[in-house]
Order: sequence, then structure tokens, then C-alpha cells
Amino acid sequence: MDRPGGASLFPATFEGGASTRRRRPATARPRTNPWKARRSNAARASRKVLVRRMQDLDDHFDTLRTTSSRRPAVDRRSYRDAMASIGATVGLATARLGDERIGRTVTSYFSLSLEPPAILVSIDRESRLAECIAATAGFSFAMLADGQQPVADAFAGAADPAERFRHGRWTAWKSGHPRLEDTLVTMDCEVIGVIETATHRLVAGCVVDIETSGDRAPLIWHRRRYHGLEA
Ligand SMILES: Cc1cc2nc3c(=O)[nH]c(=O)nc-3n(C[C@H](O)[C@H](O)[C@H](O)COP(=O)(O)O)c2cc1C
Repeated sequence: MDRPGGASLFPATFEGGASTRRRRPATARPRTNPWKARRSNAARASRKVLVRRMQDLDDHFDTLRTTSSRRPAVDRRSYRDAMASIGATVGLATARLGDERIGRTVTSYFSLSLEPPAILVSIDRESRLAECIAATAGFSFAMLADGQQPVADAFAGAADPAERFRHGRWTAWKSGHPRLEDTLVTMDCEVIGVIETATHRLVAGCVVDIETSGDRAPLIWHRRRYHGLEA
């Protein structure tokens, strides 16, 4: 399948990754640094550690660190409670592969860039959706409107995968990917990059088609329940 930039999909890198990042030419650096002379031995040592860590991170540029930090990580419960503080417009990521339509509710997504217009969505890498996205190099995405809670619940696992598309009004994009109607925003995306993490795949999608409704209010997920936006 042809993909923008002709990049291979898995494992893939965002264009402009480590290999193509421009480094500042050596000549552009000042030859003497007035601060350096005053720097204590301790400061110099800590800078060395920092440089080593940066190089380490460079090695992990395309696959986010899958090991935890050197310090003990916080426990799952504290982390989950903290993340429940986020207020997010509920999203649906969907795809079609042959006769199969598949989708899941997502809140881990954001606007990645304007040029190209792209979003980034975090998808469980063990899920069937992740497989379908990889197979088609595309996906569709919707931001749900207040009142679409039943669709959000169905796609969050309340309904079996095969039954989920009975909830909501569905048509299709030109690409064949499912298109949910009556949303806040609905869009069709082509995959332009992927980053693997321990459990999730961060999928960057270039938005190739979009429709926005100006008059609907978003469906917000905050503190483990749905909310509308107060006017
Ligand atoms: C509010 C909410 C947000 C979610 N966000 C994500 C997400 O960003 N990425 C993801 O892969 N799963 C996310 N999930 C989990 C999936 O929606 C859920 O596990 C999935 O639909 C289960 O279906 P499956 O049986 O097809 O795996 C979220 C669930 C809820 C309730």
C-alpha cells in the first residue's frame, strides 16, 4: 500500500526523527563559555550524567522507554487516580478491514500538528483495532457529542465488538473506514507514523477528511464519569 512519504509502517518513525534531526554545526557554538570556567567539579559531573542520559534517550527515540525510571515508580492506583483528573472529550477510534468494522472508546489522543494536519492516538497494541489500523494504514476518528454516552459505553466494552456499530448512526468515509454521524467532529486519517510503547501504540494520523458540527456540546470524561459542558 502507498503511504505518505513512502515510509514503512512497522516499525516506523516520525519523519524528522533522530536520524534526520539537524544538529547545530560545531562552528555555531561559542569557543569559550564564560560560565564554564566558574562551574564547580560537582556541576561538571552532573552535566556529564545529563549528557549520558540524553544520549540514552536518543537511543530510544522511536520506541519510548519501556523500562521504568531509576527511581521507584508510583503505584498503579495513585497514577490512575491522578489521571482521572483529566477532563477529555470522549473519542472513538475505528477502522474497517474487509467486512469487519472495529472500534474502541479513547481519551488518550491529541492534536499533533497543523502541517500536516495530524492527530496522535494511543491504542492498546494487543487490540484488534491496532491490527486493523496496521493492516489498512488508516483509521477514522470521532469526538463525541453530549448525548452520545450509549455509543461511548458500547465502544468502551459494554457491547461485544461485533455489536458495537448497532449504537449510533454510521455511514462510511470514501476510504471505507466507518463514519459516525451526529458527532462534534468526525474525521478520516491516514497513518503517517507509529511509536511503540510497552502496552500502547501511538498512532499518528494525517487528517484527510473532516467534518465539524458547530452547534453540539462535547461529551466530557472526567473523574470516571461523563459530564456535559456548563454554558
Ligand atoms: C473513558 C475511556 C477512555 C479510554 N481510552 C482508551 C485509549 O485512549 N486507548 C485505548 O486503547 N483504550 C482506551 N480505553 C479502553 C477501551 O475503550 C476498551 O478497553 C475497549 O473498548 C475494550 O474493547 P475490546 O474488547 O475490543 O478490547 C478507554 C476506555 C474508557 C472507558
